[in-house]
Formats: sequence, C-alpha cells, structure tokens
Amino acid sequence: METPFVFGKIASHQDFTDRVVETQHLLDNFRGLVNTVLISPRRWGKSSLVAKASEIYAQESDKNIVVHIDLFNCRTVDKFYETFAKELISATNTAFEEFVSSSLKYLSRFAPNFQASDPAGSFELSFGIDIRDKKMSFDEILDLPQTIAREKGKHIIVCIDEFQTIKDYDDSFAFQCSLRAHWQKHQDVAYCLFGSKRNMMIDLFADSQNPFYKFGDMIFLQKIASEDWVKFIIERFEETGKYISEEVAFKIAQMVECHPYYVQQLSQLSWFRTHLECTEDIVKEAFSSLCAQLSLVFSHIIDGLTPSQIGFLQAVADGVSSFTSQAVLAKYRLGSSANVKNIKQALEKKELIDIQPGRIEIQDPVLKFWMLREYRK
Ligand SMILES: Nc1ncnc2c1ncn2[C@@H]1O[C@H](COP(=O)(O)OP(=O)(O)O)[C@@H](O)[C@H]1O
Ligand SMILES: [Mg+2]
Repeated sequence: METPFVFGKIASHQDFTDRVVETQHLLDNFRGLVNTVLISPRRWGKSSLVAKASEIYAQESDKNIVVHIDLFNCRTVDKFYETFAKELISATNTAFEEFVSSSLKYLSRFAPNFQASDPAGSFELSFGIDIRDKKMSFDEILDLPQTIAREKGKHIIVCIDEFQTIKDYDDSFAFQCSLRAHWQKHQDVAYCLFGSKRNMMIDLFADSQNPFYKFGDMIFLQKIASEDWVKFIIERFEETGKYISEEVAFKIAQMVECHPYYVQQLSQLSWFRTHLECTEDIVKEAFSSLCAQLSLVFSHIIDGLTPSQIGFLQAVADGVSSFTSQAVLAKYRLGSSANVKNIKQALEKKELIDIQPGRIEIQDPVLKFWMLREYRK
C-alpha cells in the first residue's frame, strides 16, 4: 500500500495541509503583482507553499505565468545570469522550437546552444558568457521577465529560492544594486524571493543600507499548528484503513515540535508500524528508530564543529537564552562573550540554529533531542 505521508519533496494536493491564510496571502500578492519576501528555516514548507499558490495562480488565467529558479547551486554571478535566463525562457515557452526561437531572439549575443535533454520535454540551454559588452547584455537578461511579459501580454511571477546565496557573490553589493534597479521598474512582473537563512535574508531586506531594503512584503512562515497536524494525521490514517486517536496524533506533532518535515516522517514511520491502531508505544518506537537512523548524520555534523560551537548547541538544547554570564561561558566552553557572536553566526550559516528576536532554537528538533539524550552519554 502506498504510504499516506510525504517528506523530502513538495507537499501538494491532499498532502498539503492548512496554510490557508498564507496561501491566500501569497496569492493576493501574485494577483496584485506585489513583490514578496518569504522566510523560514529549511523544511518548514516554503517550496510547498509557493508551489501551491503558483499552481492556483497559473490555473486562474492563460495570462499568468510562474517561473521557478533555485539558486542553491548558483555560486557565481555568471551562473546566476545563466540560470535566470534559462528558466525564464523555458517557463515562458511550451514547445522546443518556440524555446529555441525565443532564446535566439532574446539571447543571441550569448551564443546559446540547445539540447532537447529528456523525452519528458524539458530543454537544456547553455550559452557562453564571454561576450564583449558584458554589462549591456546582463542588463538585458535582468529585464527579460518584463520584456517577455510585455511582448506576450502576460503577467509573470518570478520565484527565486535560496535568494540569500547572492550575498556570497563577488562584489555582491553592486550586483544587488543592479538587480534592484532593474526589477523595480518591471510593471508586469512580480518577484517572490525566498530563503532559509533568516538573518541573512533579514539583512538583505530589512537593513536600510542595503539595495533590497523594503523591496517587498515580508512573510515569516511559521510552523503548522498542532491542531492542524492532528486533524491531518487522523485523516491520513483513516483514509488508509488505520486508526489513530487525537492524543496519539498530538504526541507525534509534539515530539518533533510541529516541524513539517519531521511530522510527516514520524507519521509515516508510525503508520508503517501500525496494523490497525496506532498507539503511543508505536510512536515512541518510531521516534527511536528515527533517532537511530539520524545518529550517524548527527555525529558527522558534530564532528565538523569546534568545541565552542558544540558547547553553544548544548547550551541552547538546555534552554539557555542568555550567553553573557561568566558561569554560562565557562560551563559550555564558549570563550569570551565576543566570541559568542561569531559562534552564533557560524551556526546560523550552517543552518543549525534559528535566531529570532529574544529566542534561539536548534533548527532540527531531533538533533536537539539527540544532543540532550544521546550525545552526552
Ligand atoms: N503545507 C504542508 N502540509 C503538509 N506537509 C508539509 C507542508 N509544507 C511542508 N510540509 C512537509 O515539509 C517538507 C518540506 O517542505 P518544503 O516545502 O520542501 O520546505 P522548504 O522549502 O521550506 O525547505 C515536505 O516534504 C513535507 O513533508
Ligand atoms: Mg525549499
């Protein structure tokens, strides 16, 4: 039997729960061509939410187009331009010939070459970037969304994932200035920029010194509430002929602190172990197996940290929230209080902690549990 829970890929249709308010909010922004900045730690559901709103938006009218760009593997400005152009051309053209002719039309100076890469109909486009008048042509690429939207009479939403990556580019500030200068002039296009490194994103968009200051509507995506999870888990069990009580479903959500990815994963592990009725013992057993499964990964993560970074994680796991007292600094081997700032930055960059005003959390609830129970043994 197919399992009723999904993790590690986009949650859609019946796998997508709640987020009614957020979906509506994002859709309203798409419809009004309002720029959006969407922020949450990894695996909380940004991609799933954007996919959901995009699907509804695209179905509403032939005029509506959504382009998805992921900067995860775009480590340089050149790669950014290439990916940006490629995704725009692919998303705004349906057939290969159209794709080729559009590429030639819009990107001729980049000497594009083409491959119909797979039978499912996706196209590969690559082009050289050793063009003479670099600046001029890169400017054209940044204006591609608006050029295409205008010529084809469309509205285009450009969604860019892991947007904070641009902070690591060489000469990032100038690059940001250039993006902003172009994009803010686009009349028929809106941008939905999202990312998982909260402070880097806040820095980009909320610091008045930075080019992207006040670029768009900022949404801080929250976890999904436990009531919604309980309802969802009960339904998914019922649909597959199994039973779980409200209390036990609540236990699942609670054990992984409502973390969307883990709620689905723990639900699945529990579901597999359930013959007819899922009990609390089954959930506990499933959770232990999840920890065991991840233990190697966690050991590897910890091996890559300095002693003071490990000490800091232990302090956070213990619920410490102030890192200024000598006692705390000594107990967790944090060095000086000036050092704490560097530790926080490094751990946030590694996406191990989430820093919110007045609160620091270990991003991964299972890692937190593991630090508390296993790591110290
Ligand atoms: N709305 C949702 N309903 C149910 N599960 C969800 C939802 N959003 C996310 N998830 C779960 O979390 C996982 C990660 O979601 P994803 O959208 O990839 O997060 P992000 O883009 O923030 O890293 C999904 O594979 C799914 O298991
Ligand atoms: Mg994602």
